[in-house]
Amino acid sequence: MSKLLTSNPSGTKPPPNSKIRIVVAESDTVILSQLLETLEGMGKWVIYPCSEYKELYNTLAQGSPDLLLLGNVNQGSCFDICRQCQKDYEHLPIVLISHETKVPDFYRQWVSEKGFGDVVSSAPTCRSEFISVIQNIVGVIQAQKQAQSFSPSPQEEDAPSLFLEIDGTPTKAKEGARLLSVLLANHVKVLKACGGQGRCATCHVYVNQGMECLTPPTEQEKLTLSLMKIERENARLACQCRVIGNGVALEVPKGKYVGSEAELESLVGKKAQQTIIHPITGEVLVREGKLILRSALEKMQEVNQQFEKEMATMLSRKPNLPAKEKNKVTRRNEQ
Ligand code: FES
Repeated sequence: MSKLLTSNPSGTKPPPNSKIRIVVAESDTVILSQLLETLEGMGKWVIYPCSEYKELYNTLAQGSPDLLLLGNVNQGSCFDICRQCQKDYEHLPIVLISHETKVPDFYRQWVSEKGFGDVVSSAPTCRSEFISVIQNIVGVIQAQKQAQSFSPSPQEEDAPSLFLEIDGTPTKAKEGARLLSVLLANHVKVLKACGGQGRCATCHVYVNQGMECLTPPTEQEKLTLSLMKIERENARLACQCRVIGNGVALEVPKGKYVGSEAELESLVGKKAQQTIIHPITGEVLVREGKLILRSALEKMQEVNQQFEKEMATMLSRKPNLPAKEKNKVTRRNEQ
């Protein structure tokens, strides 16, 4: 069992609003200690460092973590570990820690398809990006814990209330509240695969009324939506917008996001209890009530290949990206 930096003496499952528990897995001791130092300076979180594959599994099983930061772990491929974690800990967000100094957007999208919430560099020169990604993800986890305990944040408590509708049901939100937090507070199941970074399709909603009562799309949101295969123009990413006026009417897409090709493969031959949706592009793979056939898996593979092709095209258009980065991606895609 790894050393617990801030201990939980009771050893029991934490209540919803307890401290954030983060597992950091990395076999390179220098990188591991740099990451721990950064994390300890960021917040009062419970950090579990792990440097070995077995230690990681024991820690995950015993620690009830909120977040896994997964670097290079001896005796384990990060993709296999991620796949296994998706099976064993369905809602655990996993951030891939790359030892490369640059993480291009297309690579980010690609690892997202493999089940990672995001990827950040461990390089000391990228520390500010590391901090901002982790802060964002922890912010979403905290919002979710808060929603589970039905208590608004201290800043939100003083803000005026606004009226909105979710799937026809009237509700209220504090002015300036993040739409994702509003959905979670109203018990809407949102996968938020990228941890609220605006880099997946899993928090998208349709705004049927009152688009002007939400903050305008961020650059990240515009980029992500442009890559999605969502046909409706009124889609917004709930993690990227805030409620600023009365009268928003939202529709939540119905269905389940499938985590990976392996997950879909394990469902072949069963009846879809819910519509099955691609986690990056938002495309419907199988309609509710239909039998899940191999053709759905082939469709997902096709969508993934098409997506990777589009990423490669985007890459070849990028004038300043070094050739080294292109080769790196090709090699990784071949793995
Ligand atoms: S949670 Fe991934 S885009 Fe919002």
